[in-house]
Amino acid sequence: MDNAVFTTWLAALEQRHLAELTRQEFTRAVRALSARYVQRRGQLPDRSPLDSAGKRAAFALFYAPLHLLTTQAALARTDVRTDLETLVDLGCGTGVSSAAWALMQDTPPSITGIDTHPWVLDEARWNWRAMGLPGHAVRGDMVTAARNLLRHSNASLATTGLIAGWSVNELAQSDRARLLDTVDQLLSRGVTLVVLEPLARGVTPWWDDWVAHLATHRVCAGDIKVDVDLPAPLAGFSKAAGFRKKELGVRVMTSATVRTSHG
Ligand SMILES: C[S@@+](CC[C@H](N)C(=O)[O-])C[C@H]1O[C@@H](n2cnc3c(N)ncnc32)[C@H](O)[C@@H]1O
Repeated sequence: MDNAVFTTWLAALEQRHLAELTRQEFTRAVRALSARYVQRRGQLPDRSPLDSAGKRAAFALFYAPLHLLTTQAALARTDVRTDLETLVDLGCGTGVSSAAWALMQDTPPSITGIDTHPWVLDEARWNWRAMGLPGHAVRGDMVTAARNLLRHSNASLATTGLIAGWSVNELAQSDRARLLDTVDQLLSRGVTLVVLEPLARGVTPWWDDWVAHLATHRVCAGDIKVDVDLPAPLAGFSKAAGFRKKELGVRVMTSATVRTSHG
């Protein structure tokens, strides 16, 4: 991604999300959102982690740029296709994982993002527009959206990328099993797959089963850790929240080769 695009986008995000919050309130929200995803993740299915203005700002201004940088770092360690016409972003949130992939392409693909949460859909639309990407966000269930892709022609699926960033772990086990079956069928019809998840094993007990199940489609997986000097203001937010992030880490599964060395 062009550094200037990232810097301009980050500055616009800061203006958009810090207008109504003090730095202290924002820092507290970053910590609270992290706790919701880590210590209190058992509550996720019943209680939205985005239940306050502060947490929504933390999601949009701290975690979204971090996820964009992490996706970018992960995909740079693969030879994933960058000549696609369409990206479908399952559990798109703020739309940053598909944005990172789209920005690697010479001709930006059109993006369709699917999420159940209405607030994130507006944020995704805003982000794609700010980055000059053609994006369309739809409220819906990602398992159903993936199944609907089976109606598309093989020619269309052969130029479609399917990305799920930090979202498959939020599904109930039965929905995840349905998604795996659908992904399996979509891969045999030519779709290009990218799944990203946290490195923490406890969040992804299903990971190895997915990798084994999809191995016939030459899907590869690996853990990626990249040293990073976070750009301002992310470094400041990270330090203030007590994280002092020095590396980006992610688990990636994709229909491409993955190089996993640290650095
Ligand atoms: C941790 S966020 C990640 C968002 C985004 N992909 C990113 O990379 O930052 C997980 C997202 O998955 C969405 N999600 C969870 N279950 C879903 C479902 N069944 N259908 C669609 N979206 C879902 C949540 O609303 C949330 O926005």
